Amino acid sequence: MSYTMDAEIEATRLERQVDQANYRLGDEFDCFRVSPTECVLDAGCGSGVLCRYLLRERGVRQIHGIDSSSVRLDQARRLLLARERDAITFFEADLSSLEPRFRQQYDTAIARYVLEHVPDALAVLRELHEALKQGGRLIAVDLDGVFVNLSTPNAALRDYLDELVDKVDFDLFVGRKLPWLMREAGFVDVEYETRLIDCRGASRREEAENTRMRFAALGPFLRKLFGSDQRSEQFQRLYLKELEKPENTLVFTKFIGVGRKG
Ligand SMILES: C[S@@+](CC[C@H](N)C(=O)[O-])C[C@H]1O[C@@H](n2cnc3c(N)ncnc32)[C@H](O)[C@@H]1O
Repeated sequence: MSYTMDAEIEATRLERQVDQANYRLGDEFDCFRVSPTECVLDAGCGSGVLCRYLLRERGVRQIHGIDSSSVRLDQARRLLLARERDAITFFEADLSSLEPRFRQQYDTAIARYVLEHVPDALAVLRELHEALKQGGRLIAVDLDGVFVNLSTPNAALRDYLDELVDKVDFDLFVGRKLPWLMREAGFVDVEYETRLIDCRGASRREEAENTRMRFAALGPFLRKLFGSDQRSEQFQRLYLKELEKPENTLVFTKFIGVGRKG
């Protein structure tokens, strides 16, 4: 079952997420040099939070944001200041089959929390390879085990989580596969870094709030996945209750993969 998060509230979640310690843009991108003259693609830009960071914090003057959701792009456009509209342009397109006009255009492409939502991550990586100029660079940021790594003795919740992993057609463990998927897509000099995300204390409270917002955006998706309102609501209730218990661990990994078009 495919991921769809067209709900308006998803933009609020994406905007708030970057203020949480585990999702700070600086933590993910401060180590990369991005020159202001580069042409940068934000692939799967959502509400445009990374596009605005690249312009405001890194001075990049030509940024294209691509997303398949027109709802998300409308929100992204509204969040731009008038003076930023020359530097940032948004396009509605499907990353798994990009039009020829996007080929060989970019010095850097960034896909942040996108491959974990697509049915065929390799197909998207091949398209991003095509979109780069010769020598261009891809930075992919994806989580591995987010949400489903909650460890709980509650058998009913464990069954729900297994059902979810079985039924979705995207990969909740794509993070660990980034390096070899990037190689298969044709990238060279592939390297990666990891961050262990151990949700406890303040970080657990932030992740719980993030999860409540995910559920609010995912209502119709979860109803369809679990087959009824009643099962979907029971799943959400159980998840949030088990997440409150400090003895139930929630630890997942963030992978940051980098590769070049040789
Ligand atoms: C979790 S959001 C991340 C948004 C943004 N990169 C960020 O870091 O806030 C994933 C985004 O990928 C977009 N997306 C998913 N599949 C896509 C596809 N095949 N083509 C284009 N965009 C896609 C969704 O619409 C959504 O906006």
